[in-house]
Amino acid sequence: MNTDRRVNGLHLVRLLGDWRSGAVPTAYAGLASRLRLLILDGRVPLHTRVPAERELADALGVSRTTVAAAYERLREDGFLHSRRGAGTWTDLPSTGVSAAGPVATLVDDDDLIDLAHAAPPAPAEWLHAAAECAITQLTRYLPTHGYDPLGLSALRSAVADRYTARGATTTPDQVLVTAGAQHAFALTLRALASPGDRIVVEHPTYPNALEAVRRAGCRPVPVPFGPDGWDLEMLAATIRHTAPRLAYLVPDFQNPTGFCMSAEDRASLVALAARTGTTLVIDETVAELWLDRPTPPPVSSELVVTTGSASKMFWGGLRVGWLRASPTMVRRLGAARASMDLASPILEQLIATDLVPRTVEIAEDRREWLRSSRARMHERLALRLPSWKPNAPTGGLGFWVDLGAPIASALAISAERHGVALAAGPRFGLDGAFERFVRLPYTLDAEALDLAVDRLAAAYLALGGEVLDDLPLRGVT
Ligand SMILES: Cc1ncc(COP(=O)(O)O)c(C=O)c1O
Repeated sequence: MNTDRRVNGLHLVRLLGDWRSGAVPTAYAGLASRLRLLILDGRVPLHTRVPAERELADALGVSRTTVAAAYERLREDGFLHSRRGAGTWTDLPSTGVSAAGPVATLVDDDDLIDLAHAAPPAPAEWLHAAAECAITQLTRYLPTHGYDPLGLSALRSAVADRYTARGATTTPDQVLVTAGAQHAFALTLRALASPGDRIVVEHPTYPNALEAVRRAGCRPVPVPFGPDGWDLEMLAATIRHTAPRLAYLVPDFQNPTGFCMSAEDRASLVALAARTGTTLVIDETVAELWLDRPTPPPVSSELVVTTGSASKMFWGGLRVGWLRASPTMVRRLGAARASMDLASPILEQLIATDLVPRTVEIAEDRREWLRSSRARMHERLALRLPSWKPNAPTGGLGFWVDLGAPIASALAISAERHGVALAAGPRFGLDGAFERFVRLPYTLDAEALDLAVDRLAAAYLALGGEVLDDLPLRGVT
């Protein structure tokens, strides 16, 4: 299925970044590897037309033969296909390889450890009990048509109560139930932004949010962090100069940096929004997963749309989230939903209705598990990869790790071959930024975390990195 979507030579050069780095013997193989990674992790979307060989060769300053050989390798591996005289499109191999999977691994595909997603497994007992309860409740809804664009009133009340308990007084008519926080953001973009609008984003930021901005035809305007978190002066200057339609921020255990915004900065942010008339979309997906100390109360004002989710506290597979805004905005966003998905599933909402009021209890278990996974991964990293510098997140689901050199994309390729799917830093940025970083979630059990780090050490070693340890490398054939 070819599409009209295309990536031009200059754009592709930016995405490719420093593609010559890494342990590949020839230029064409290095180029093919890097292109493959861009396709696998979605930075060059599927079914996108790639530049003609000559155009890319000129843009890269290499010979056309190099590009032709790289394209040929990717065609052989199933990552590109060409139609004579028409062009070349990105593709995925039809068998044995998923979008997160490698072409040739040193381990079986089903042995691949997923460090690309920062999402914990469900707390199974809680989920089972809530699902059983939901089934019995479902009977009440069967005589209705089942479409409720704003969400079940019991769930809206439960979510409103949770906000109120956290310090942002909320009524049920300020809550719209969605299919997750990502859906809530996409819906907000659809309702409030138009193609060509600028959307301020943190840099780095959550990749799917970036993609949603692009898919809405809007232009992401990146604002970098300072060494300790948000640079609100820079944010203010950017808003003044670019007059964005929205600003999207993740103040609680920002994905991927793990920063948590102070109460003072939250107040300054609200004041900035009021001064400049900027609507803020505040993503609170992991706000309740603090590990060391509770987060400050939610950022809240007339100009704030807050998105939240059942995904990380309960389970991603529920696909239940919400947004909090003024009642007028909630009605507006609810109306915009008609052309998207009409309403959320009743059964899943009933499950969430049972779980949300138990957040405090469930969170206790969750935190205990996450604290010990965080400690376990930190220890293993210190032991096996002492030159890597993980940050020190006080909550959330993962480390943002400084590798000390711009090798993240090459490492992701090598990691796949060693049985670990990895989110390389450039996934979280624009134009190939963050090549020195990877995000490492600690959302697996202890044994899997150890094995994942050991495999990463082997992958790093294969790139010529330094692994200071004399333990045998496990799990690598
Ligand atoms: C910052 C952030 N926003 C949104 C999401 C997606 O959440 P949901 O599963 O509720 O769509 C994630 C998931 O990792 C996330 O980290």
